[in-house]
This record gives sequence, structure tokens and C-alpha cells, in this order.
Amino acid sequence: MTRQLWRHATLATLDGAAPWGLVDDGAIITEGSCIAWLGKDSALPAVAPPQPVIEHDLGGALVTPGLIDCHTHLVYAGSRWREFEQRLQGASYEEIARAGGGIRATVAATRAASDEALLAAARQRACALMADGVTTLEIKSGYGLTGSDEARLLRVARRLGRELALEVCTTYLAAHALPPEYEGRADAYIDAACAWLVDLHREGLVDAVDAFCDRIGFTPAQTRRMFAAAAALGLPVRLHAEQFSDQGGAALAASFGALSCDHLEHLGAAGVAALARAGTVAVLLPGAFYFLGETQRPPVAALRAAGVPIAIATDHNPGSSPTLSLVLMLNMACTLLGLTPEEALRGATMNAARALGQGDRGRLAAGLRADFAVWDLEHPAELACRFGHRPCRRVVCGGRERP
Ligand code: NIG
Ligand code: FE
Repeated sequence: MTRQLWRHATLATLDGAAPWGLVDDGAIITEGSCIAWLGKDSALPAVAPPQPVIEHDLGGALVTPGLIDCHTHLVYAGSRWREFEQRLQGASYEEIARAGGGIRATVAATRAASDEALLAAARQRACALMADGVTTLEIKSGYGLTGSDEARLLRVARRLGRELALEVCTTYLAAHALPPEYEGRADAYIDAACAWLVDLHREGLVDAVDAFCDRIGFTPAQTRRMFAAAAALGLPVRLHAEQFSDQGGAALAASFGALSCDHLEHLGAAGVAALARAGTVAVLLPGAFYFLGETQRPPVAALRAAGVPIAIATDHNPGSSPTLSLVLMLNMACTLLGLTPEEALRGATMNAARALGQGDRGRLAAGLRADFAVWDLEHPAELACRFGHRPCRRVVCGGRERP
């Protein structure tokens, strides 16, 4: 197993009780894909020869856990710039969706695209996120909306995980929008989507199941049926909940022990309490909040007071959040939603890991995966303080430095 020594860095471990889990002039020893030791450089244990050690001097740079983007819709074709113009002229996201645009527009473009075209576009997006320090990426389906098209999207996602120095988690989101061929037959569509899930799960394509529970999505009753199908297969669930209205989606998801509920602008007190009881992560998506010009913020103070873990993600998609920078989301989480810089970074690392059910990452500690990013910054708060910058210098994923 390759043993590597990373020296002279400011470590923001996010581990332990100290703010940021900071270790000044720290060092990390990795062995294979894991962290074997971490601490003050001056306390480095003697490394017994003849074990080969590759040594890297980080020259005082900042090291954080690799960023985790726990909510993206990365695989799709087409662009929605026309809808952006329409919204600037006063049309709402919901109006555009009801008129057949929105998600349905991307579904039409995605169905018409070849596997190769979908892969090439998604690879480029993944590489942009990786350049921003992302080491684990969640990718949802949801722009195919037939059994075979949903499979194509999930296979592209899996392939990215094999081809790139990146960990990919997949989420089945057939309950994203009602495809035109099921117009007026939403219940029949959910039946079909539940049946496809069985096959996709058998093919190893699904790590979790999501749904869009809202006025322009699916009802709580339909969401419940999708979740029951997931539970029958032992798959964890997540939910796009209370984005435009309070449907009681968070409480429903919490009753299934959901890993996360995402968006949550319209989450009420009962929903906050349900998330807290279930230990469900609240994933906030400042990109969609910003791009859709929302004015109602998710209830950050109530989530904090209730002890609900808060995560941050890009929600990358062509309609509501076409961003490819998770670092920018840290800034927006603070300026738009009221998080502290430390909460924002924990949101894009340890709490994002929890939203994905991944206990082996998101902090820097012995025994965890050696996923970390090296930044041209002095202090971790600068990650959220600046915006429009690209401070990531080096990335180590599973103990291997990316070329
Ligand atoms: O997370 N709210 C539903 N789904 C996406 C938007 C998808 C789209 O507009 O294409 C979201 O914001
Ligand atoms: Fe989303």
C-alpha cells in the first residue's frame, strides 16, 4: 500500500470540538485510500523504514476535507436560456412548468440525445465541479422519465464514477415531473416508476430514491407510494420538499427515515420537528433560491435550534440552478441564507456526507477516506468569504492525487 506524507498545512479537519477542527502546521499520513495518521507536523510519528514514503510539502496551504456535492441533476441535454429570459420578463418557474416547459423541456432534449452526447456533457460538468474541490458527487436521474431513459442517465452517472477520480452516488428521481404521455394519469405513472425501480436496482444503478413533492410535482400520497417501493427494496429515500409550498413532504420523508430533505424554503415548524426527530439532513440549495429570485428563506434559525444537520449543494440543473461551483454556494449560503462560514463548509463536507449516508468521509480523521482539497488560502472562512474565485490547487481522492 502506498504510504504518503503530506506536510506543513493548515488543516481544517472539521473533527473534534475546536472551531473548524483547526490544526496549525499539520501533517497527514495516508495509506492506500485512507488517512492513517493526522496531527501536528512536530508530532509526526517516526515512519519505520523500509516502507516507501512519498513526501509532499504543502508550504502552509489550507487543507479541508474534499467537498461533497450531495444534490445535482448532472446528466441532461439542452439549455434553458429562453426560460431565463421569460422569467426576467416576469413569468414564474411554476408558470413555465405548467405551460409544458421547465423539466419537461429538458426531458424532451435528453430523450433525443445519444448516450455519448449525455456522457460528454456530464463529464465536462463533473470536471468543473472537481476543479472546485469536489471529491464525492451525487447525481440524480429525472430527465428520462421512461424506464429505459432513466436507466441511460444512471448508467452515465455510474460511468463517470468509474472514469474519473471521483466518487459518484446515484439517486433515482423518476418522480421528478409527469411526462407528457402520462398527462392526467399521474397515479399510473407512479405505478410505472415503482416498477422500473425494481429493474434499475437489480442492475446496481440506484443508491437512493428521491421525488419532487410540490404543486408542480407529485402529491404526498404519490410520494408515499414511491417511498414504499424504495423501502421494499431496502433503499434510502430523500425528497425535494417544501420548495414552493408546504406540502408536509418533510414530515412524510422523515416518517420513512429519509437521509435528507432538500430545498425547504417553505418548511414549517412541524416539518422542522419531524426532521430533528428522524435525524434527517436539511439540504439547502442557495443556487436555486438565488436563480429563481425566491424571497422566502428556509428556516435556518429553527433548523439550527432543533439540531437538524444542515448541508449545502449546487442542485446543478439547467433550469433552476445552472451553477458548477460548490465554492460559490458556500458564499451564497452565508450571504443569502444566513449560515456562518463554518456551517457552510460543514454543510458541503460532513453534513453532505450524512445526506448521502456515507460515514467514511466529510471530515479529516484517521480511518476515514483520504479525500481532501488543498487551497491557496490562509483560513477556511475565506472559502465562503470570497466569490467568483477558484482557489483549489490540488485534490486527493481516495489517497490518490488527481493529475
Ligand atoms: O431541484 N425542483 C425540482 N427539480 C429541480 C429543478 C429541475 C429543473 O428545473 O430542471 C430543482 O430545483
Ligand atoms: Fe434538485
